[in-house]
Amino acid sequence: MANSPFDLANESGYRAWRNAKLAAYPRSVDDLIVPLGDPYHLTPAEIDSLESRCARANMAIYSAPHLPAADKSIPHQLARQLGLTHLEGNYLADEDGLSSITPTDEAGELRGEFIPYTHKPINWHTDGYYNALDRRILGMTLHCAQDAEAGGENALLDHEMAYLQLRDTNPEYIAALMQPDAMTIPARMDEDNIARPEQSGPVFAVDPAQGFLYMRYTARTRSIVWKADALTQAAVRTLVDILAGSEHILTARLRPGMGLVCNNVLHTRSAFSDSPGHRRLLYRGRYYDRLSFPAHAA
Ligand SMILES: [Fe+2]
Repeated sequence: MANSPFDLANESGYRAWRNAKLAAYPRSVDDLIVPLGDPYHLTPAEIDSLESRCARANMAIYSAPHLPAADKSIPHQLARQLGLTHLEGNYLADEDGLSSITPTDEAGELRGEFIPYTHKPINWHTDGYYNALDRRILGMTLHCAQDAEAGGENALLDHEMAYLQLRDTNPEYIAALMQPDAMTIPARMDEDNIARPEQSGPVFAVDPAQGFLYMRYTARTRSIVWKADALTQAAVRTLVDILAGSEHILTARLRPGMGLVCNNVLHTRSAFSDSPGHRRLLYRGRYYDRLSFPAHAA
């Protein structure tokens, strides 16, 4: 795409984008938080606030603690107002397409085989990194119905910041991770117990029509094969180091009635503890859309 800051040949465009990005990027997770009076009917000021956070960091955190947090219609209706309409349904999703992320490892149910449905930590990833390229997860939401008794924080990093830090280290690492065979997920049964064929693709890609940067990534070392060339291997190691120590990582502890809306940024979950009467419960939505914000009169 002409004049894209993500074009490795466009050094001046990259420099301008980079400096603006660093200047605008939130210094604290509190900068992401937008209180909402009525999530079912966003006001123009609330839309502006969400939009400005997403412009800076590809994510925002809303807060509506005065409403019943376990009401799934909150994240559902909020998403619709932010352009998230094509929800990825999956085998484990509830009927409305949102997945209830809650531990089932103690009950020995099927879902307990998959890390999201346990108390275990989840390492850095973007959602749907194993999807085929025509099923990219561009938008993601997490709504907190019930928080853990301890732990369960989400570390968050705008994938554009990961790109920036990696390109600053060595632009050739970006080229390596844009190769269409940089990352391969072997044929397997996935988190939703669906058989999936081998899936190769780039880590970083620029959308040819709209020009946004998209990232597919998991820090998992099992069930993933990185291209064997030295540059890709070095790029992957460097990315691991960046994710271990970036000063731009923002850590959120979602409380009931709070939620994340994002353009599928990099995220983790820390280990947590809860109890039968106080189960951590988050509703997750995965969308084929990016966030978009309705225009309104100033
Ligand atoms: Fe995730």
